[in-house]
Amino acid sequence: MAHTGAKPLWGGRFSASPEGELELFGASLPFDQRLWKEDIRGSKAHAQMLGAQGIISEQDVTDILRGLDEIYAQIEAGEIVFDASEDEDIHMAVERRLTELIGEAGGRLHTGRSRNDQVALDFRMACRSFAEELQHAITELQSVLLRRAEEEFGTVMPGYTHLQLAQPILLSQHLLTYFWQLSRDFERSAAAYTAADACPLGSAALAGTTYPLDRNMTAEALGFSSVMPNSLDAVSDRDFACDLVYACMMCQLHLSRICEELVIWSSTEFGFIEMDDSHATGSSIMPQKKNPDFAELVRGKTGRVVGDLVSLATTIKGIPLAYDKDLQEDKEPVFDAIDTLIGSLHAVRGMIDTMAIRHERLEEASRKGYMAATDLADYLVGQGMPFREAHGVVGRIVADCVSEGIELQDLSLDELRSYSAQFDEGALDALDIAKIVERRVSYGGTGNEAVRVQLTEAKQQLTQQLGRME
Ligand code: ARG
Repeated sequence: MAHTGAKPLWGGRFSASPEGELELFGASLPFDQRLWKEDIRGSKAHAQMLGAQGIISEQDVTDILRGLDEIYAQIEAGEIVFDASEDEDIHMAVERRLTELIGEAGGRLHTGRSRNDQVALDFRMACRSFAEELQHAITELQSVLLRRAEEEFGTVMPGYTHLQLAQPILLSQHLLTYFWQLSRDFERSAAAYTAADACPLGSAALAGTTYPLDRNMTAEALGFSSVMPNSLDAVSDRDFACDLVYACMMCQLHLSRICEELVIWSSTEFGFIEMDDSHATGSSIMPQKKNPDFAELVRGKTGRVVGDLVSLATTIKGIPLAYDKDLQEDKEPVFDAIDTLIGSLHAVRGMIDTMAIRHERLEEASRKGYMAATDLADYLVGQGMPFREAHGVVGRIVADCVSEGIELQDLSLDELRSYSAQFDEGALDALDIAKIVERRVSYGGTGNEAVRVQLTEAKQQLTQQLGRME
């Protein structure tokens, strides 16, 4: 006897449904409807396999595929409004509509399948797409960075440690640092793709199934490289989601650091760059303001991506094998991390692409702050003085310059010689900022030649990444 008020999809042993608020509390439809394409694609592959294995009839397969295609078209056209008080999740929403459309055959689709392997499948497919999307967005930002690094080849700027003036460097060297950070993010995204790229479908609820499924067939149809070898693992594993969110978090951290510098550089005090009007905002009260809002926002959004990783890991940490409803909490952190990061990558790419470099400010700043001190000490070492002693001599020179408010370049050779007789003509060369940069010839260093090599390597890296995404 049919029970009134029980859920149609699992209502057999129930005499009542969860009351209204609880029903909404338990639903994932508001966020997992985003998986609708994956869900339909997975169901089509499953139905075709059921048909090929003789588990359901060819007529059923035809009806199911037609019905699923129709639902696909309806969702795409915005004709279906999902409602969590009607369906708990996207899997049930699609299946219910299918049965409404094609009748009994719709009820055969779920043969040998559980929502547990179904959701793992959908989520893995989505994570693979996210990982690809990420690789594209990362590469686009890298190509802008590389272009600007090439354009700015030869531009000298101050290099910092502790945000104190340290040694002059090439702006290209600084921009390429971001490039290499992002190439590691690209690798992490690629690894997250691989982690998701194993098919859980056919594991059913937890233990596999009595039907003679062909798991290789569905895996292949859905473009998976392998089939997960353990049904319990297949329905309970979310490592792939953690890998993806970790990749997102690291990339977002990099963007945050970049944006921190863009904020500092665009201040009046630094004035190294000016944000393009298209990537800055004004103030409603202070007419003079031009604020690097978008850079700040990327930095600010980093907190939520770090939070996404913590949230996901914490959800997973205590759950016994195999599927537990806790796992429904896995999706929002992934969606949030991906959406936040993709938006941030886009914003940073635009800012870097359009910002104006204020060369006169960089040049002025590079001459200040005694950044030639190391080279002056190295010069004395070249004259035979032990480095420790040279460090002391130059330290005293700097101290005197500081108290007189002058730069090292303001000193004459005679004045230098009053600190050490070992200074001669060459000492003035040691103080030349452009030459200081040029002398950094070591591989990976900021010398013009070393950076030229690096630009070539970055170009090769970019080409390699583009090739891998084809
Ligand atoms: N909405 C669920 C989720 O996202 C689908 C799986 C439900 N399985 C179950 N046995 N309740 O995880």
